[in-house]
Amino acid sequence: MNVLAIETSCDETAAAVVRDGHEVLGNAVASQIKLHAGYGGVVPELAAREHLRAMDIVVDEALTGAGLAIGAIDAVAVTCGPGLVPALLVGASYAKGLAAARGCPFLGVNHFLAHIYGAFIGKPEILADPEAFPLLALVVSGGHTALVLIDPDGRAHIVGSTLDDAAGEAYDKAAKILGLGYPGGPILDRIAKTGNPKAYDFPRGLTGGAGKPLDPAQRYQFSFSGVKTALLYASKGRTLDDAALADLVASYQQAIIDVLVGKTIRAAAEFDTPTICICGGVACNSQLRAAMGEAAERAGRRFVLAPPKYCTDNAAMVGGIAYHYLARGIVSDFGQSVTARLEQTLGKVPFAPRAHS
Ligand code: KG4
Ligand code: ZN
Repeated sequence: MNVLAIETSCDETAAAVVRDGHEVLGNAVASQIKLHAGYGGVVPELAAREHLRAMDIVVDEALTGAGLAIGAIDAVAVTCGPGLVPALLVGASYAKGLAAARGCPFLGVNHFLAHIYGAFIGKPEILADPEAFPLLALVVSGGHTALVLIDPDGRAHIVGSTLDDAAGEAYDKAAKILGLGYPGGPILDRIAKTGNPKAYDFPRGLTGGAGKPLDPAQRYQFSFSGVKTALLYASKGRTLDDAALADLVASYQQAIIDVLVGKTIRAAAEFDTPTICICGGVACNSQLRAAMGEAAERAGRRFVLAPPKYCTDNAAMVGGIAYHYLARGIVSDFGQSVTARLEQTLGKVPFAPRAHS
């Protein structure tokens, strides 16, 4: 089954052709980073306008990459949320129009679950292996930070999420504070490589310590507002040379990564998950990839990691997860709405129905 997938939830216009959930035949992404860079964040209306402009181009590119004509497409899938509503509407309307014109099935996909699926693209043997379940996924993107447990039947449960900023926002806002540009993640990742991660002792949110024991109800929750404020004060009024900036950034990043790794490994032990994966844009981070990989190995868990192109927003993950629904006859109707918030979409849909059956 060839699924044409579309993704416009934020600032990437993406299209992909995915065969049978795992074979990515064509994959195209048009980034809007330059358009939003001057604003230090994504402007939803500008994003929507740009999606409209780029939509046809990326769909053509995905089909050309796949070497397929539109007539070879069996179904159309699209991200319907969570995300920026004006941006989502462009992709959803385009996908509905295409499916209606072609007379083929249409499916609205959950962006958050698609990110998790991104870690498993091209690895059908893991999803087919009952021994791999339950899976523990750390979703770290610009919009979300959450630990998610995927049951053997494919149902997803949120074990914990952020009370304030997402991990990606913690990177983006830090870069804004330091005047380094947007998006902050890749910039700080690069700068941190030459710094001393122990130069500053930044707070590790919701991990206990400093005389305050951790409330057990918060053991899998995240908070990055404290470390962001600490960075603001540590940098205020200072002119930082390259070495001082690298120390500050490396220490800031270390605080974030310690929390992400610590909570993930703790949850893996508590829920006895043989498999850990990380996904979402922050999963591109070189230090996080290394630290989580080492910690998972020490804990005796299989670590699943996607190449960076399937961590940041892309449509291959959308077409991949969609296959598991479509193959079981699950489709959406054209009344399918788009939604900004995760709570409205999660819980109603499984990660991938009976993923390993
Ligand atoms: O998954 P994504 O492309 O979009 C959302 O669904 O939010 O994630 C974007 C986020 C941004 O906050 C960006 O700064 C962060 O991922 N990011 C990184 C890195 N590359 C992208 N964060 C840390 N290190 C990176 N190398
Ligand atoms: Zn995303």
